[in-house]
Amino acid sequence: MSDVIVIGGGVIGLSVAYELSGRGASVTVVDQGPLGREASWAGAGMLPPTAEAGTAEPALRLQSASQRLWPQFSESLQAETGIDNGYRRSGGLEIRYGGPPDALHNDIEFAQQRGVEVEALSPQAVRHYEPNLADNISSAYRIPEMAQIRNPRHVKALLAACTARGVRMIAGTPVYGFERSGEKIIGVNTSDGVLNAGQFLVSAGSWSQQILQSVGCDVTTQPVRGQIVLLSAQPLPFGHILLSGRKYLVPRPDGRILVGATVESVGFNKTNTAEGLSGLLDFAKGLVPCLAEATFERAWAGLRPRSADGLPYLGRAPGTENLFVATGHFRDGLQLSPITGTVMASLMLGEEPAMCLDDYACDRQRPTMDAGSKL
Ligand code: GLY
Repeated sequence: MSDVIVIGGGVIGLSVAYELSGRGASVTVVDQGPLGREASWAGAGMLPPTAEAGTAEPALRLQSASQRLWPQFSESLQAETGIDNGYRRSGGLEIRYGGPPDALHNDIEFAQQRGVEVEALSPQAVRHYEPNLADNISSAYRIPEMAQIRNPRHVKALLAACTARGVRMIAGTPVYGFERSGEKIIGVNTSDGVLNAGQFLVSAGSWSQQILQSVGCDVTTQPVRGQIVLLSAQPLPFGHILLSGRKYLVPRPDGRILVGATVESVGFNKTNTAEGLSGLLDFAKGLVPCLAEATFERAWAGLRPRSADGLPYLGRAPGTENLFVATGHFRDGLQLSPITGTVMASLMLGEEPAMCLDDYACDRQRPTMDAGSKL
């Protein structure tokens, strides 16, 4: 019997498993599909140090704490597994075109007030950094600290590190509910029988809501589809991550370019649509016209778990002694995975987490406003 069963082997569950096993716990991870192949695999791996003006304080706190962990976390994973997750500071450019020149003024001030380095740029200065951008840019700023990882490689590194630390992985095994005795969870019912443990964690992304409902834990993890297109171009026509509102272009050193992403509430539907893909391709060509000649490689979609207020749930499931929840990270699952791993491992081991988790409790007040991430 393991000390902990983690339900959901995406980047959140694996990061918690990595931390727990590193601190001596025996851990089993169970997933309904292959490990790490849902939203963790589908994203683009952007790690922005800043957010748009008005983003809620609890979201910013998690973002900054996680941002600080990424360089060391990536190094440790590489040292343990030999797998490079592709962490690098490529810098980012937030861009608007065809609008007023001060459209990004509030975002620039917001970042600077939080001590994040940003450089306001004139349209001419943007093209100095990236000469292949369209010539109708109206406002922009540069974010030198913006980083990226290659998320499929990061998941691979996490899986290898967890395996080396003795974590047991069970793929292709759906979870149907729990066995309990009062406030204590004793086991989890799976398609393969009951698995027992001392503690349980639900980190099943968009599927968390239905798993947790079976123990009366009322969280929202609405699936929000994100379609992504993969292009390639040699040589790469730009080096920064390019952002404009909710859409982005992420250049990889090997000439691949990720174009994302749609934000669609269409249930558990991961198909690509003509409208979604044409919108992304129009966006890419509008920002970097020479991408009209890029090679189309493929397209896919992932489902991000959105909570009622846009903040993740990090804490104990109300009414239970030993069931924990780490889910609802919406567009920020990869970015927030290091801090989530650290604080959840501390909480589950009875230690003081590195930050107060009250704002992320499952039974918090849920204002209808969006704490919102645009990544
Ligand atoms: N984090 C990227 C996206 O959700 O589109």
